[in-house]
Amino acid sequence: MTEEHLSEKVALVTGSTRGIGRAIAEELAKAGATVVISARREKDVAETVSQLRTEGFRALGSACDVRSYEEVASLMKFIADEAPGLDILVNNAGVGLFGHISELTPESWNQVIETNLTGVFNCAHAAIPLLKERGGGAIINISSLAGKNAFRGGTAYNASKFGLEGLSEAMMLDLRYENIKVAYVMPGSVATDFAGRAPGDGDDWRLSSKDVADAVMVILAQDHRALTSRIELRPFQPPQKK
Ligand SMILES: NC(=O)c1ccc[n+]([C@@H]2O[C@H](COP(=O)([O-])OP(=O)(O)OC[C@H]3O[C@@H](n4cnc5c(N)ncnc54)[C@H](OP(=O)(O)O)[C@@H]3O)[C@@H](O)[C@H]2O)c1
Repeated sequence: MTEEHLSEKVALVTGSTRGIGRAIAEELAKAGATVVISARREKDVAETVSQLRTEGFRALGSACDVRSYEEVASLMKFIADEAPGLDILVNNAGVGLFGHISELTPESWNQVIETNLTGVFNCAHAAIPLLKERGGGAIINISSLAGKNAFRGGTAYNASKFGLEGLSEAMMLDLRYENIKVAYVMPGSVATDFAGRAPGDGDDWRLSSKDVADAVMVILAQDHRALTSRIELRPFQPPQKK
């Protein structure tokens, strides 16, 4: 799949109303793909679709909580009904809830694992029949460097992203001969409002959402023979520890 071929492609990006997912949807749209916007908040989905269309891109959207298999199945039905099919799934939706293990509530644990890990399983599982109908495609998961480096207060988030690495790699082995490429991107700190932080001054060293989107586009631009199955993307010059 090369970039110039994306004009015939349909791409679903979960969590694409802001941040990294939004940037990925914009880069896919610029490369000619029809993008399917999705997140939990219906109003944000409608606004994002409308903005992309105003800019001349092909976009459609439907709200979906990736934690619910039922909602994910409805999203796939929406795509099957409203688009020519599905070629690319970017599993980007994610949440970060942090805190000492003793203070992390079971509800917070569940929210992180169900969104960042089960949500990816739900979307991939429900998307595979659509991808196969089109002769194959790509599934790209947005993981994190927190998927290989644990940190204090990261029990739920680290577990979700370490788990996502295993899920991605096993899925890659399951799907390669069905002509579906599976890859994952592990960014370091990105300037978004993830986990309630407001991007602002002093963010210059962080990655931008577009940096992550560019990594996704690199994977999609590769020749059919080749698969970059994992990209570690780190800020080049984070503040030095004294
Ligand atoms: N920012 C970073 O430093 C960083 C670094 C490495 C990796 N990542 C990963 O990159 C991904 C995107 O992060 P971001 O920084 O762009 O976050 P963000 O700005 O908070 O955006 C998250 C997006 O996901 C959606 N979302 C959250 N829960 C959802 C659910 N249950 N179902 C469907 N959509 C849901 C949100 O919309 P709604 O709230 O309306 O649902 C929003 O569109 C995450 O997987 C995160 O772990 C982020």
